Amino acid sequence: MLEGKAALVTGGGRGIGRGIALAMARAGASVVVNDIGASLTGEGADHGPANQVAEEIRAAGGAAVANTGSVTDHAQGRQMVQDCVDRFGTIDIVVHTAGILRDRMIFNLTEDEWDSVTAVHLKGAYNVIHPATQQFRQQRSGRIIAFSSTSALGAPGQPNYGAAKAGILGLIWSCANALTRYNVTANAIMPFADTRMIDTTPRAHQQFEETGKWPSEVAAGTERDPENVAPLVVYLASDAAQAVNGQVFGSFGYEVALLAQPRFVRGLRRGRRWEPEELRDLAPTTLARDLQPPPAVGGAFSLLDQIPEGGDDVAPGVQSWELD
Ligand SMILES: NC(=O)c1ccc[n+]([C@@H]2O[C@H](COP(=O)([O-])OP(=O)(O)OC[C@H]3O[C@@H](n4cnc5c(N)ncnc54)[C@H](O)[C@@H]3O)[C@@H](O)[C@H]2O)c1
Repeated sequence: MLEGKAALVTGGGRGIGRGIALAMARAGASVVVNDIGASLTGEGADHGPANQVAEEIRAAGGAAVANTGSVTDHAQGRQMVQDCVDRFGTIDIVVHTAGILRDRMIFNLTEDEWDSVTAVHLKGAYNVIHPATQQFRQQRSGRIIAFSSTSALGAPGQPNYGAAKAGILGLIWSCANALTRYNVTANAIMPFADTRMIDTTPRAHQQFEETGKWPSEVAAGTERDPENVAPLVVYLASDAAQAVNGQVFGSFGYEVALLAQPRFVRGLRRGRRWEPEELRDLAPTTLARDLQPPPAVGGAFSLLDQIPEGGDDVAPGVQSWELD
């Protein structure tokens, strides 16, 4: 599906990004595998992960080069795109998967924890998307795929990460609207997969206590395998997805899902400016009646709980579901 195309995958050395780099290469793309090889909290650097994935692709007959730069650095982001152009003659696809975590309640969150997490996720997205779109605009084609998270919707202990992941949605929607005239699409994905990121959660600690294994150690081949996210990315990156632009998808196990667009659902109107007291009196029975908490309150899984069982059979073994 990606024969003749060239892609940059940031964070391609481990977890979800690794699966994407491998799947894109299998689909025929030449791949720049970027990964600084940092710890989960963004410390240190290790050339191993990026080089190993690039080597794995080449060993399977594909084309890949490693790049071990940091997406937090604007010049290094530009260099990743340049590496793709220099080595493969073009860049058609940019996938921003690099990520770190420094979870903290907002009142304990240090400036460094804010800066470092937003630097990798949000500024990192800009640092690779900006130079890639200069090429896309000239060649009048391109694909942007960036990783958001259901944490964007209100994870209480992740104010830095959640804000960066919500920022990615704004960036993707802006790019989608700005670049459609150049045949460029931009989409975001909220994934779930058992990588080392998930090993930090209470569920993972419980699993470790019960089985002696972290979720990431036993994910391969299961529904929680990080490689399960890759097929959606390959599809979005392909020519077949030209009409899919500015959307937010979920990728959970073997399920792929589309998120609703934000929309206004009720309102109050009058012929002059409101007095605060008027809103105070009217809102409880109108505007502010029966309010729902943000979807990710108490854990991102509340969003997944809305997914119905079953659905319509649309192909052998495939069910399609839709909420009103
Ligand atoms: N695993 C999940 O369930 C989940 C859920 C929601 C969102 N996500 C998002 O999906 C993406 C992939 O996550 P993952 O679970 O595979 O994590 P991971 O830790 O396995 O992989 C992330 C990779 O990014 C690299 N990286 C970190 N900082 C970098 C930098 N400055 N420059 C270049 N590379 C850097 C790391 O070295 C690592 O190899 C992230 O954006 C993450 O926030 C994951």
